[in-house]
Amino acid sequence: MSIFLDTGKLEEVEKYMRMGIIRGVTTNPTILLKDGVTGGMQAIKEQSVKIANIISPYPLSVEVTTNDKQGMIDQAREFSKWAENICVKITIHGPNGELENLEAAHELETKHHVRINVTAMMSAQQCFLAAMAGASYLSLFGGRVNNMGYNACDEIVKLRKVLDQFELKSEIIIGSTREILNVIEWLAAGAHIVTVGPNLLEGMLIHPYSKETVKMFLDDAKKAEAMLHQT
Ligand code: E4P
Repeated sequence: MSIFLDTGKLEEVEKYMRMGIIRGVTTNPTILLKDGVTGGMQAIKEQSVKIANIISPYPLSVEVTTNDKQGMIDQAREFSKWAENICVKITIHGPNGELENLEAAHELETKHHVRINVTAMMSAQQCFLAAMAGASYLSLFGGRVNNMGYNACDEIVKLRKVLDQFELKSEIIIGSTREILNVIEWLAAGAHIVTVGPNLLEGMLIHPYSKETVKMFLDDAKKAEAMLHQT
């Protein structure tokens, strides 16, 4: 069970790698745009290679930018050459329900040995089909599931049970994390990995009462030091 960082920011990746608390990084075109990675495929490549090197041997997910089957295959094969620890995100289907995505994912995993993270999934049944297609990672968007009025925990429990029952090797990554409490509840429900944005990770780590307690320790240490010098 582990935590991935959902970001395109190098300094955030470096910070949490130094602490030893992340085991991978996930990106998507929206995150990269938000994090200032503009400049087309060359910029995506440069940023991805930098992140992949920082986190090696942990995996970095990079998403294809097309929904054309051959285009997805070509991009995925190209991305996977950028660094050994890159795996490629392909959405479960196209924007209008086009069904070539799992064909591409299956071909990439079985013929080209590219590790695929099937993404933008909202239900256990979608994830199960992606697992059957051979995906290494299954990205279920927990926050979006909850926003639709369903409980992501229920989907995770069912999915993990079925994966174990069928001895499928895919690992569940829960993303779209909105609240700090999601991280532990989703791991406890059976997710292998939860991917978290830097702000939420900082929120998990820093607690107001811990701050107050640490301040008390430091103040009292100073007082004890001062008393020593008085005697
Ligand atoms: C997960 O892998 C995705 O990159 C991400 O968490 C999606 O989150 P969103 O629902 O905030 O777009």
